Amino acid sequence: MKQLSVDHLTGIVDLSTQDIELILETAQRFKEVINRPIKKVPSLRDITIANVFFENSTRTKLSFELAQKRLSADIVNFSASNSSLKKGETLVDTINNILAMKVDMVVLRHPNPGAAKFLSEKVNAKVINAGDGTHEHPTQALLDAFSIQEKLGSIKGKKVVIVGDILHSRVALSNIYCLQKLGAEVMVCGPSTLIPKYIDQLGVKVSHNLRTALEWCDVANMLRIQLERQDGAYFPTLREYAMQFGLDKNMLDSLSKEIVIMHPGPINRGVEISSDVADSKQSIILDQVENGVAIRMAVIYLLAGRIER
Ligand code: CP
Repeated sequence: MKQLSVDHLTGIVDLSTQDIELILETAQRFKEVINRPIKKVPSLRDITIANVFFENSTRTKLSFELAQKRLSADIVNFSASNSSLKKGETLVDTINNILAMKVDMVVLRHPNPGAAKFLSEKVNAKVINAGDGTHEHPTQALLDAFSIQEKLGSIKGKKVVIVGDILHSRVALSNIYCLQKLGAEVMVCGPSTLIPKYIDQLGVKVSHNLRTALEWCDVANMLRIQLERQDGAYFPTLREYAMQFGLDKNMLDSLSKEIVIMHPGPINRGVEISSDVADSKQSIILDQVENGVAIRMAVIYLLAGRIER
């Protein structure tokens, strides 16, 4: 059986191209499973997984839970808001107490960049990063790559623009690493205040003009403005942001070719994307959500293959 080169999934930066291709191939097989009348396999009946979420989540949390259930793993869910962390316990102590109950794998969402990597070096369990602050969201990038491949047949040579709040986005950084490793060209587009100063070092193109960016690309990944992570004013008002960087149907229909529209969710309709674009036939937003379960099954299954049993 082919194996990943890593023991944990803390960031796309650590994966080789072969690792990513193995995850995408494995997810393809699991996508077939979850479309059968019986959407379940017994592969991980001997594995217990803790989902530890310190931040809100709809898609990622439900998708991980469903992926684990489809693989027949046992699961426990931990939410920081009603835990003993409020009484001063550290993250490592909290996780070690969960692991003492014979848990093999931890899925962690945490507001601090680097939290998943830190945990993977401190505890005796496989760790999956479900989003660490403004740093990485590796399973989102993998499901995005899977969805582009499914829609366009391949990723190599495709042009992908990521539009919006690049500065505060873990989705953007993981997507840049993942798409480049698979041979795509990547552009970021947004107001200069929301593009990080180090962006040139990542080998991406930069545009501050939405029409120019959309005319260049095959795929546009529209990001939400992450107000909860902003510590200042990066543009005058949301209305002005929407007028300059929001994608509406008039602009989409006026482009010289048909492009694919993606969004990691949650969507702010009428800000970064209008309702008729989000719901258009060019949008693959709900395909991304469906593919998230198959990708997370693949990641969990492959990392479980590295547990000594
Ligand atoms: N895409 C994403 O991470 O969504 P949630 O915050 O709902 O998990």
